[in-house]
Amino acid sequence: MSDAPVTQAIRHHLLTDVIGAVVDEPREVLLDGRHSQAIRALLEQRGVLVFPGVHFSHDEHVAFTRTLGGYVSDYEDGSATDISIDPAGGSTARYTEASFFWHFDGYMNTVPILGSIMCCVRPAPVGGDTQFCNSYVAWEALPDDRMAMIEGLYAVHSLAGAQLSVEPEPSYATFQEWRQIAHNTLPLVWTHRSGRKSLVIGNTATNIVGMDPLEGLDLLTYLRDWATQDRFCLTHSWSAGDAVLWDNTGTLHRATPYARDSGRLMRRTKLAGEEPFSA
Ligand SMILES: [Fe+2]
Repeated sequence: MSDAPVTQAIRHHLLTDVIGAVVDEPREVLLDGRHSQAIRALLEQRGVLVFPGVHFSHDEHVAFTRTLGGYVSDYEDGSATDISIDPAGGSTARYTEASFFWHFDGYMNTVPILGSIMCCVRPAPVGGDTQFCNSYVAWEALPDDRMAMIEGLYAVHSLAGAQLSVEPEPSYATFQEWRQIAHNTLPLVWTHRSGRKSLVIGNTATNIVGMDPLEGLDLLTYLRDWATQDRFCLTHSWSAGDAVLWDNTGTLHRATPYARDSGRLMRRTKLAGEEPFSA
C-alpha cells in the first residue's frame, strides 16, 4: 500500500501480522471526522479496526458512521440495529444465530455493504466474542494449484443454507420461508477494483455451480478451513463501550457461542457498499 502517510496521521497499533489494528484516539476526535480518510485507509489495510471503550451513544454511533461513508439503516427512521439472540427481542433473533458460523454480510446484494460498525452495549458474561479472518490474505496464501482450480467458479449463497447450520431439520413451511428471503450466485474469487483478490465464502454458500454437490461441498469446506486458520484470524473479546469497524468486503466474521439469556446486546450500523462483486 502506498498511503502510509495517511494512516500515520492516526494513532494506532497493529494486532497481528495480517489483520486488525487498535485506534488510539479519543472519542471526540473520532466524532469530528478529521481522521475519516485515515480510518478508511487503515481499514483497507487491516480489515478490522478496534476503538476500545469509546462508549458511543446511539446518535454518536450513527454520526461516526456517517463520517466514513454512506450510512445504510435497516429502518425508515434511520436508527441503528440492535443485535441479540434473545427471542424476547423479536422474530429476527433466530436468524442471528447463524452468525455463530463464518460468513460475510450482504451476500444477497449486487453491491454488498462496505463495512459494519458494531458497538457493545452489554457483553455476554461467557462467550460472545467476535472473530474475523482476512479473506484477502487467505486468497494470497493459497497454493497455486488451488488458485488455478477455483478462479472462474461460482457458488450459490442463500439464507436457507445459512439457517440449515442452525436448524438442520426445519419444517417444509419454514424452509420455503427461508428460500424466499434471499439467495445469490457469486464468484468464489472477487477481483476488486484495486486489483487485489479475496475469497467469497461462508456458511451461506452450499454448492458450486456446475459441480457435483459433494465435490462442491468438499471444496467449500477446504476453503473455509483454509481461510480461518489462526494465522489469518483475530478474536475480539468485548467490553461495554467498545466499537469495532470491519471491512465486509475483505473479511469473514462469526460470533463465538453465547446463551440466549446472556443479556448480550450489540448495536450495529452499516456502511453503504461501493463496489459490486466481480470475478
Ligand atoms: Fe454478520
